[in-house]
Amino acid sequence: MTEILFKEILFNKLDELKKEAIASFAGVRSEEELYALKVRYLGKKGLLTDILKDLGNVGAEVRPVIGARANELKGELEETYERQSRELKNRKIQAELEAENVDVTLPGTPVSWGRAHPINRVLSEMKAIFREMGFTICEGPEIETDFYNFEALNIPKDHPARDMQDTFYLGGPIGGNVGAYCNTPLLLRTHTSPVQIRVMQKQKPPIQMVSPGVVYRRDADVTHSPMFHQIEGLMVDRHITMAHLKGVLEVFLRKIFDPDIKLKFRPSFFPFTEPSAEVDIECMFCEREGGICRVCKGSGWLEIMGCGMVDPAVFKFVNIDPKIYTGFAFGIGVERVAMLKYGINDIRLFYENDLRFLEQF
Ligand code: DAH
Repeated sequence: MTEILFKEILFNKLDELKKEAIASFAGVRSEEELYALKVRYLGKKGLLTDILKDLGNVGAEVRPVIGARANELKGELEETYERQSRELKNRKIQAELEAENVDVTLPGTPVSWGRAHPINRVLSEMKAIFREMGFTICEGPEIETDFYNFEALNIPKDHPARDMQDTFYLGGPIGGNVGAYCNTPLLLRTHTSPVQIRVMQKQKPPIQMVSPGVVYRRDADVTHSPMFHQIEGLMVDRHITMAHLKGVLEVFLRKIFDPDIKLKFRPSFFPFTEPSAEVDIECMFCEREGGICRVCKGSGWLEIMGCGMVDPAVFKFVNIDPKIYTGFAFGIGVERVAMLKYGINDIRLFYENDLRFLEQF
C-alpha cells in the first residue's frame, strides 16, 4: 500500500516537474536563460536528480517503473532544450542579418567638391604661360630686410618712392635694428622685386625667372588690400633689349586675357628700372558699364603692370657688369588680373571666403 502510495507521489512529482519545465522552456528568451533552465531541471544538482534521490526508498518492483518514467522525462526535457537552443540561435542569426541589411536603393552621402581659389587659379595660369616661354619659377621670403626690399633696388632711405610702399616693420621702432644676425631692419616685403636681387646674387646671367608671392602694404579699399599677390619677372643676358620686354609681355597679356586685346606701353618711373614703363590694356568693362565707365573712369585703358630695363645701379649692387649685361624686369598684381579677367569690382571678395562667391569659379 505504501509502495503504491510512494509510486503515486513520485509520479505526481514527476508530472508536476514536467509541466513546470515545459512551461519554463516555452517562455525562454535568451541562450543564457535557456542554459539556466537546463541546469535547474537536468543538472547534477537539478530538480530531476532531487526527485530521484527518493528512489532508494521504494521497493524493487516499482523502482524500474519510476526509473523508466524519470528517464522518459529526462529525454523529453533534453529534446525540448535542444529544440529551443536551435530556435534561439536561428532567431539570433536572423536578427543579425536583418540589422546588416544594406538598402542599395537609399541615396548616397553627397561629396562636395573642392576647387582652386580664383587667385590660385589665375596664378597657376600666369605661371604656366611664363614657363612655356622658358622662365623658371623662384620664390623669396615674405619677411625681408630693408636692404633687399628697398636699398638694393635703388630706393635709398629718403627716396620719395618709399612713401608709396609704406609697410609693416618687425621688431622695434620703424627703421629699428632687429638683432645681431641682421644689421638692416626687417619688414614685410612690399613687392616681389627683392627676389630679383636674391636671384642675381646667387646666379650669374643668363637669368630668366618669374617669382610669384604674397606682398604687404599699408593700404585698404575696394581695389587695395594690405596683403595681395604679385608675380615678378626678370630676364638678364647679353643684348637684352626693350624689344624682348615688349615681346614677352605682349605674349603673356594676349594669352591671359584675349588674343586680340589692345595694349600700350606708357612711360613711367621706377627707381630700379631705366627706362620704365607701365602697360595698359583696353578696358573690357566700358561696354557693360555704358556711359562713362566707372572702372577705367572713361579713359578706355586699364593699368595692368610695371616694367622696365634693369637700372645699372641695381646691377652694381649684385656685381653684374652693366657694360656686358642688360636685362628687363616686370611686376604684375595677381588680384588685378583676376579682377579684370572675371569682372570683379571689390578686391575684398577674394579674402572673405564666402562660398557663394568662390563656387562661381
Ligand atoms: N615692384 C613694383 C611695385 O610693386 C612693380 C614693378 C615695376 C616691378 C617695374 C618691376 C618693374 O620689376 O620693373 O609697384
